[in-house]
Amino acid sequence: MHGTTSAPRIRVPALFFKPFFRRTAVTISFQELASNSKPIVPVIALPTLESALPLADTLSSCGFTMLEITLRTDCALDAINQLRQQRPELIIGAGTVKNSQQLQQALDAGAQFIVSPGTDSDMITQARAQQVALVPGVMTPSEIMQAANLGMDTVKLFPAALAGGTEFISAMAAVFQGVKFFPTGGVSEDNVNQYLALPNVICAGGTWLTPTSLISRGDWNKIHEIAQRC
Ligand code: 3PG
Repeated sequence: MHGTTSAPRIRVPALFFKPFFRRTAVTISFQELASNSKPIVPVIALPTLESALPLADTLSSCGFTMLEITLRTDCALDAINQLRQQRPELIIGAGTVKNSQQLQQALDAGAQFIVSPGTDSDMITQARAQQVALVPGVMTPSEIMQAANLGMDTVKLFPAALAGGTEFISAMAAVFQGVKFFPTGGVSEDNVNQYLALPNVICAGGTWLTPTSLISRGDWNKIHEIAQRC
């Protein structure tokens, strides 16, 4: 669902793939994208490409249809591409996207949304030009203002627990009406419902659902057990 027009493309290594996906529906609203999914987004650091499909199947069998694959491991872009091609019913985003080149690579792999740990005006401009939902990371009112003034409707509060957690998000509600939060960083099974109870939280995410140790040993039963509790 990429924009079909004139945005310049940065070459990706041959190891990857030709840009395969073209965006068929135009959206730059993360709120719109997230509104039909369970409001908990697994944040995934995939150790191997082989784990992508069984992990996605385990999570989707528990109702998790929106997944964030972080660009923290070598196989992340290939995993995004594979999931888009083989599990088109899921909504696959790229996380830990820190610059414009990574953003372009994620889009070329087929990512349907982009999550960044910070707010970068170049990335926001690029995402808007390509009609893709971007969730920039924030930790202060100034960063929320910057993101909102650049047209973003959702921000990632990161690291949420250190930033003040639910109290910070509540305090922002009156000032930043219309801005929704996607907290990650210190969100867990024990506190996720407190975040989700806030009207200005659209979803919450974290790695607690998909510990690398369990993925590495293919313990899908254990991940299923954790996911079913949420
Ligand atoms: C993120 O990338 O959003 C966070 O690193 C997730 O934080 P967590 O490991 O505390 O869930």
